[in-house]
Amino acid sequence: MRNLTEDNLTAAVLATLSNTQDARLKTVMASFIKHLHAFIRDVEPTEDEWLIGVQFLTDIGHLCDENRQEFILLSDTLGVTALKDAINNRSTERVTEATLLGPFYREGAPEVPLMHNIAEGLPGEPIIVYGKVTASDGRPIPHAKVDIWHATGDGLYDVQIADFNGAMGLRGIIRTDDAGEYRFRSIKPASYPIPSDGPVGGLLRKLGRHPYRPAHIHFIVSAEGYQPIVTEIFVKGDEYLESDAVFGVKDSLVVEFVRVDSAEEASRYGFQPPFYKAEFNFILDTAS
Ligand code: BEZ
Ligand code: FE
Repeated sequence: MRNLTEDNLTAAVLATLSNTQDARLKTVMASFIKHLHAFIRDVEPTEDEWLIGVQFLTDIGHLCDENRQEFILLSDTLGVTALKDAINNRSTERVTEATLLGPFYREGAPEVPLMHNIAEGLPGEPIIVYGKVTASDGRPIPHAKVDIWHATGDGLYDVQIADFNGAMGLRGIIRTDDAGEYRFRSIKPASYPIPSDGPVGGLLRKLGRHPYRPAHIHFIVSAEGYQPIVTEIFVKGDEYLESDAVFGVKDSLVVEFVRVDSAEEASRYGFQPPFYKAEFNFILDTAS
């Protein structure tokens, strides 16, 4: 391994994997080295450009802690997360499509009863979201766990609102009833920018890209004997549906939030009109 050149360097590095015991690690590293070398051959970075790249990754690392994951944000904004999700959620069954988890999921949301208002006390346009959780053959799944979280009408999650002081809001876990049905009340979410005050935001600006996600509600739906699904529903008509900064929108997940002006119907839910109704049914795949 001396006198290595452009022509034999890749092969020399790949040869160092020969003692790797872990077969999967060997496969992953071989592919990584091949693609990285191909990238360098393609781009032919100058010394300065290579240093800019190193600094970019260093800045991303410095921003990461238990509250912020800038590397995942990089993966999200380059479509890597969406591609990984598509690969890991291939199904021959007719099941609900998966999409990004995002950085705002928090474990341990409160278990709340059907019809609970997860935005109690917060200003915003009232919504009711309801539907069924079924298996792919249409059988309802009672007692399925529906873990919900979303942003306010100002596009902020609880962790981004100082008044919450670390407490949870706009989150809840609902169990489906005997008919596999769930329903909850909240406020209409708005489109919002992903965290863009770090190196990833800086990159988006340089690329002339906006940081917005269309308005959405996140869900993790799970039940014994079924594969859990991490997904989101998107508000039909949102201006960012065609240009989600993290490539997560699927037609099957776009839902109409139907405006209701009836005072009588609103009062049934403890709302003032107008309010919005959205129906979405989740279909789970059986566990393999
Ligand atoms: C979110 O929807 O919460 C999200 C997803 C990816 C990056 C940033 C935010
Ligand atoms: Fe989100």
